[in-house]
Amino acid sequence: MNDKFIMALDEGTTSARTLIIDSKGDIVASSQEEIAMSYPAAGWVEQDALEIWNTQRTTIQNVMNYGGFKGEQIAGIGITNQRETVVVWDKESGQPIYNAIVWQDRRTENDIKKIPAAMKKQIIEKTGLIPDAYFSATKLKWILDNIPGAKEKAKAGKLAFGTINTWLIWRLTKGQAFVTDPTNASRTMLYNLQTKTWDKDLLKYFDIPEQMLPEIKSNSEVYGKTFEGLISHADKTSIPIASSIGDQQAALVGQLGLKKGDTKITYGTGCFILMNIGEQPLISKNGLLTTVGYQINNKTTYALEGSVMIAGAAIQWLRDNLRIVYSSAETEWYVEQARKNPNAPQVYFVPSFSGLGSPYWDPSSRGAIFGLDRSVRREDIVKATVESLAFQANDVLNAMKEDSGIIKKIKVDGGAAKNDYLMQFQADISQSMLERPKNVETTGLGAAYLAGIATGVWKDFDDIRTKRKIDKIFNFTRTEDDVKPLLHGWDMAVGRTRNWLT
Ligand code: G3P
Repeated sequence: MNDKFIMALDEGTTSARTLIIDSKGDIVASSQEEIAMSYPAAGWVEQDALEIWNTQRTTIQNVMNYGGFKGEQIAGIGITNQRETVVVWDKESGQPIYNAIVWQDRRTENDIKKIPAAMKKQIIEKTGLIPDAYFSATKLKWILDNIPGAKEKAKAGKLAFGTINTWLIWRLTKGQAFVTDPTNASRTMLYNLQTKTWDKDLLKYFDIPEQMLPEIKSNSEVYGKTFEGLISHADKTSIPIASSIGDQQAALVGQLGLKKGDTKITYGTGCFILMNIGEQPLISKNGLLTTVGYQINNKTTYALEGSVMIAGAAIQWLRDNLRIVYSSAETEWYVEQARKNPNAPQVYFVPSFSGLGSPYWDPSSRGAIFGLDRSVRREDIVKATVESLAFQANDVLNAMKEDSGIIKKIKVDGGAAKNDYLMQFQADISQSMLERPKNVETTGLGAAYLAGIATGVWKDFDDIRTKRKIDKIFNFTRTEDDVKPLLHGWDMAVGRTRNWLT
């Protein structure tokens, strides 16, 4: 009863999770529920914002009630979330006025094309982002332009905009806290990295009323308390909400990537690579994004980010669309089978289903499989899919090396990081050393660390450092010359997917 726990809410693209973490930094209980996606038109991706909230709430109640925890044992809540996804709701009724438009949604591609070159340049300089339909601004504008009466209501201060963290905090506090954090704000294309505020020129350009935007607070402080009765009718504890951080930045913190040059790769639905670049927001010359890494005690640390849109989602596609594997886990077995045949041709799969993200930023690319001959079997295609995660991450790592000149050890996490073949392949083609922690749930841990520091469970990051455990180090075993032909094949494959739609 003396030990205090932290609750981490991890609202990812496809599921909501709640984790309970003890003061040793270990996850002692968790609950997870899937969240449905809908695809109402080509390139559109939506979710029901109320379902997101209700599912998150269910996982909170499950973990607390089935795990036998009491509200008073929880020192604080940390929130981490899928970023860029947009929710707009009515402040009075609490009802969303439209579905959540998910980060993967491409409906505003044409709006991006119409942005004049001078404005694009300003956007890059101010926000560190390369103008793209991925970010929140054009999605938010789409809702204001297309939902009858939305713009007038927004101007009258009746609507609220939030990424998922803001929406959850607003719901958890019954509207008492309307806040976001710099990591989520820095993905909207409305946040100025230098002034660390919403940018008035960009708001004007996208015609977004400032009164609908949340207040920006640091990643580690108490924003408010949960409403009574969140846990159950019997347990009326109000728990402090003490951190909010975008999931990829949370993984950087969860991996304790706190020194300049520290780099992490998270293999999730997409694949996101972040490098800590210290306290100055360096703007990339090689197709990377600059983003806030984390802000704590008035100190902002920035990161370079490479965002690969389709990673684990390519494996899901094998399962759900091609239906050539039954489960994601089964891919390991197929890869093993493929490797047993030394004569198998090298197949390449470029899964650019919705265009290419970093470092190419080419919305016109579409997915393709290359190198097919009569001998190619299902296992070779599965292997090519797994390898596509590593090739895409490697393109980003190369851009990072160009921009920063430094890459220290690379820390890996996310579901697919458990796949030893993928990790070894990544280490080989990237000629790097990879470090996999015992716990690959680094997003939840990052949010928990920040909430734990804000509520006194831990003093600072040094206090946490001793609690991190390494599972395995992957060092490269192939020479640069050996992997050169492979990388050349990948480059050719990517090149041929480009300008598909132009
Ligand atoms: O930028 C999108 C990212 O935050 C989504 O992460 O883990 O839900 O695929 P994930």
